[in-house]
Amino acid sequence: MKYSKIIGTGSYLPEKILTNADLEKFVDTSDQWIRERTGIRQRHVTADDETTGDLAYQAALRAMEAAEVEPGDIDLIILGTTTPDVIFPSTASLLQNRLGLPHVGAMDVNAACTGFLYALSIADKWIRVGDARRALVIGAESITRLVDWDDRQTCVLFGDGAGAVVIEGSDEPGILSTHIHANGEHAGLLGTDVGVSAGFRQEEKNCGISIQMKGNEVFKVAVRTLSRIVDETLEANGMDRSDVDWLIPHQANLRIISATGKKLALPDERVVVTVDRHGNTSAASVPLALDEAVRDGRIQRGEVLLLEAFGGGFTWGSALVRY
Ligand code: UT7
Repeated sequence: MKYSKIIGTGSYLPEKILTNADLEKFVDTSDQWIRERTGIRQRHVTADDETTGDLAYQAALRAMEAAEVEPGDIDLIILGTTTPDVIFPSTASLLQNRLGLPHVGAMDVNAACTGFLYALSIADKWIRVGDARRALVIGAESITRLVDWDDRQTCVLFGDGAGAVVIEGSDEPGILSTHIHANGEHAGLLGTDVGVSAGFRQEEKNCGISIQMKGNEVFKVAVRTLSRIVDETLEANGMDRSDVDWLIPHQANLRIISATGKKLALPDERVVVTVDRHGNTSAASVPLALDEAVRDGRIQRGEVLLLEAFGGGFTWGSALVRY
């Protein structure tokens, strides 16, 4: 097979919604600040007894239903996440069992907010070399579990959710190209500074587990880097920005999304935006946005989609897709 093709999409959001007004009650922030600086109005938050795997399971079921495939039809599962249920087994392994898939390869990929695009890139290659016919690719996060709810600089930004696609080998395009990158030089600008091997700070709240971000510096690098990856992706396909029908960006900040939309000279209505309702769901944000625009009929078969993301690492990536 020369290409892999998206044959079904699905997504899931936890029931609980936290609005900006809710946040105003326990942290020194305002609805106006959050909307003006980020575009976010609300976010979904996993319940105490809900895990990333639960969200991923629901999104996967919906994607498989849309693709009209049975568990036995899937022969690879890759899950992009920064917030796995447990350290091991991988959340993908747990899902293999829960979804009743055959004993296929199952792996988690941690590339922070770029996790879904990394997962999609790997699955696309597996299909193109002929080692898999169909793959289930998921981005799922309970990223609010890593948030310090007293830190107004980060707690207003994040939300939980999951999105999934089923891709299948095809002689027709399909995923035209994927591009993934990392640069660990600025690791300190976005991430956690504790972990299993680095150790935890027992004396601190939540043992020191919380997202640390120098937002302003991340913002500037994100805008520059996403602009570069747009060029890289179009050049690799010999395409012009006018060939792109839809931008499906990572949903971190409406101002970053608008900058990339402008770079592509796309009108606002050709840019899929969910950040206002979902916040930043890390690896889940791109497949969530894709599923929303497929299900509400905006995205039509044959159209060209540019998917892109930027996140902790730094990592960044893109995919150009003929849907
Ligand atoms: O998904 C992975 C990639 N992540 C990103 O791409 C995130 C990139 N960064 C951003 O989106 C933005 O930098 C933020 C939304 C995080 C912050 O927006 P900003 O315009 O860069 O604000 P800032 O950090 O420069 O802060 C401006 C002011 C500060 O006050 P002073 O020093 O000017 O008095 C902050 O203390 O806003 C204050 N501030 C807040 N005020 C009310 C920061 N957070 C809040 C808040 N509510 N939640």
